Amino acid sequence: MCGIIGYVGTQQATPILMEGLSVLEYRGYDSAGICVQNGRLTTIRAEGKLVELEKKVKRFESQGTCGIAHTRWATHGVPQERNAHPHRDCTGGIAIVHNGIIENYQELRLELVASGHLFASDTDSEVLAHLIEDRVKQGIPLLQAVEQTLERVRGTYGLVVISKDVPQTLIVARMGSPLVIGVGEGEYYIASDPSALITYTKDVVYLDDGEIAAVTSEGVQLSGGVSMLAQDRLLKIDWDVEETSKGGHPHFMLKEILEQPQVIADSLRGRVDLIEGRSILGGLEGIRDRLAQIDRIIIVGCGSAYYAGLVGEYLIEEIAGIPVEVELASEFRYRKPLISKRTAVLAISQSGETADTLEAIYEAKRKQAITLGLVNVVGSSIARETDAGVYNHAGPEVGVASTKAFVSQLTVLTLIAVYFAQLREEEINGHAILAGLAELPAQVQEILDGRQEILKATAIMRNADHCLYLGRKFQAPIAYEGALKMKEVSYIHAEGYTSGEMKHGPIALISKAFPSVVLCPNDSMFEKTWSNIEELKARGGAIIAITTDRARVEDSVDACIVIPQTLEVLQPILSVIPLQLLAYEMALAKNLDPDKPRNLAKSVTVE
Ligand code: F6R
Repeated sequence: MCGIIGYVGTQQATPILMEGLSVLEYRGYDSAGICVQNGRLTTIRAEGKLVELEKKVKRFESQGTCGIAHTRWATHGVPQERNAHPHRDCTGGIAIVHNGIIENYQELRLELVASGHLFASDTDSEVLAHLIEDRVKQGIPLLQAVEQTLERVRGTYGLVVISKDVPQTLIVARMGSPLVIGVGEGEYYIASDPSALITYTKDVVYLDDGEIAAVTSEGVQLSGGVSMLAQDRLLKIDWDVEETSKGGHPHFMLKEILEQPQVIADSLRGRVDLIEGRSILGGLEGIRDRLAQIDRIIIVGCGSAYYAGLVGEYLIEEIAGIPVEVELASEFRYRKPLISKRTAVLAISQSGETADTLEAIYEAKRKQAITLGLVNVVGSSIARETDAGVYNHAGPEVGVASTKAFVSQLTVLTLIAVYFAQLREEEINGHAILAGLAELPAQVQEILDGRQEILKATAIMRNADHCLYLGRKFQAPIAYEGALKMKEVSYIHAEGYTSGEMKHGPIALISKAFPSVVLCPNDSMFEKTWSNIEELKARGGAIIAITTDRARVEDSVDACIVIPQTLEVLQPILSVIPLQLLAYEMALAKNLDPDKPRNLAKSVTVE
């Protein structure tokens, strides 16, 4: 999704902006542009990949120590240079970069056109430049002009404004689309995603919704004249640039799959008391008494985070005995959810910026629920909007298809389930669960070490255009997640189904050309899943089994991928790993770049 970077200080802005854009590439984009202040505004934009912009930037003079830049992912208007940001007013003296959506842009545009404004793009964003222009022409200072403009706007924005007439100044504003300011020595960086600025500084301050500020090399002043750099707002980013680079691997997706033993260990660090058999979740302690009173949990999330929530439902109901519902965040607020003060709404989100999940949290807050976050990005919107929460500690996830964040979500959800059981003084075997969790890093490593096994399955999938993923109970959400991974990176049409539902419809699809991936660890569901395998075989469909029991399965299937055995509640954390690898290998087999799936963006900040 769109990315923003800005700079004001003493260094040349262009190299910093171009570097920032290259870090933001992973979010997905179709065009890019920069604008540098040097007595006038030099704006350079290009359709397509950053190399196209780089070629143009080299040809133009773009000296200056203050500037803005943007990667665009088309929402309004086709991906062409004229729709790329920065967008300018009629005079070319004001330029803006904008993430988000201006919902009332059509009426604003009609009004502006009627009063003589000339538009150069089809975007919703361009209205902002023209509205600011009108106010500046009336002699209103830039900061107030932006403020008054935003009063007319309905929608979401992360906005940075630059003007040729206000040297060394950027105006920033936020509503529902993240912006972070990096604090240097007499210089400031602005980004929609902190990974774009951590090369330069780790001291950051996040803008809150509704805030508008002027950023100069002297500091950051909110529209009321208050400095934003108060100690309690400054945060330190605790990850490194190396963590966002590929570290010698061909793709971020592979790097992140291979990191998972460490990621699980990091998610568990300091949170497991193996002697007492307790989980220690400091982020929930502040509202411990309120949490002890809850009678229901609703988990909200999108995509993989939603599937993690479905595993969470089994975990929390089984371990803590609290009723759980899981809702797609994108549907949650459209259906009058029945929520009381004793309902906890838990949002799961890697980025912490997914617009639908954030909206679900706002809805839960309006209904006075307790709101909780399971979020990876520290200081992100969902982390800040929720009453309490637990961070994944998975490190930055760059690959568009979620892998390590998903696994860390399952790890933390297990800790949360044990924590709730403790609060309710449920009789559980916390020791066994926590000891099982502690063994997972070594078990995941074992799967990764044997990853050649996956190639047998790749050979079966190679000729398939469609396939089915099947699992029961804890393995059902893993079947959905496996199918999602396959769709995202290999573009093979994959359907995730609960095994029990197969005979109610999808079995009609099975033929020699239609393989199935069946999750059949040796657990309480094994016998039942085995009958599904027999049904598939009887119809000639190829079967790839993910199992803990080679001896029982191997002879009956076409490829058998063996994973270590753990407790049934923890098995999903192991069974998803081969499915991630299978999707990755299929992308390579089809000559696709798994890090840049078509049409997808890493962080979905529009509804
Ligand atoms: C799938 C994937 C997406 C995200 C979803 C939610 O591989 O990455 O389905 O899981 O867009 O994103 P977050 O977790 O950032 O809210």
